[in-house]
Amino acid sequence: MPKRSPLSCEDQVLIQDLSERGFHILPSRLSQPSLGRVIDCLKQQRLRRTPLNDTDHSHWWDEVDCPANTIAAQHLFTEQVKELVSQIWGPPSLCVFWANVYRAGERIPRHRDTEGELQIITALSIPPHACGGALIIHHQQSHEVLLSPGDQLIFSASTTDHETSVLSGTADCPNPIRAVGVCRLFFSAAENGSVANSSLT
Ligand SMILES: [Fe+2]
Repeated sequence: MPKRSPLSCEDQVLIQDLSERGFHILPSRLSQPSLGRVIDCLKQQRLRRTPLNDTDHSHWWDEVDCPANTIAAQHLFTEQVKELVSQIWGPPSLCVFWANVYRAGERIPRHRDTEGELQIITALSIPPHACGGALIIHHQQSHEVLLSPGDQLIFSASTTDHETSVLSGTADCPNPIRAVGVCRLFFSAAENGSVANSSLT
C-alpha cells in the first residue's frame, strides 16, 4: 500500500480551522484577471431563478450553470486546491460547479446542504459591508465571514449550518449584487454520478 506523504502546514491549518471554527479561508486565491475570466465565462451560461428547495419557495435567488469543462470551473477548483484537499481526503470522486447570485432583498436562510462532503466558495462579487449579504457559519458559535473578491472558503456545507444575511441597497450602492462560485466535492465512490443537477440544498 502506498505511503501517504506527511501533511503540509497548510493542510494542518485547514484541518484545525474546520475543527475549531467550521471553515478555512484561502485569501486572494483568484487574481483580478482570473476573476474577470470566471465572470465572463459565467455570463455565457444559463441563469435560472432557484428556490431554497423543492418544498420551500420562501426564498429565491439566481443560479448560474457552470459545466465542469469550462474555464470558470477550472478556477473554482484549481489544481493547487485539489492537491490541498486530496492530501487529506484523497481525490474527489465528483465535482459539481455552479454560481449563486443574490440581489437586494435576497438571502439564503439557515440550512445545511443535503449532499456533498466539502464545498469551496469563491467570492466573485461582494457588495460593501453596509449592504449585508455576509456569509454566517454556525459552528459552536456564529461566525460572520467577510470575504473579498478572489477569496476562497472551504467548509462542509452538509454538516455545518450556514446562511447569508439579507442584501440591502444603500445610498452609495442601491443595487447590490453578491455572486459566489460554488464547487461541491464528493469523495465517496457511491456518490459518483448520483447528482442530476446542482440544486444548492
Ligand atoms: Fe448551502
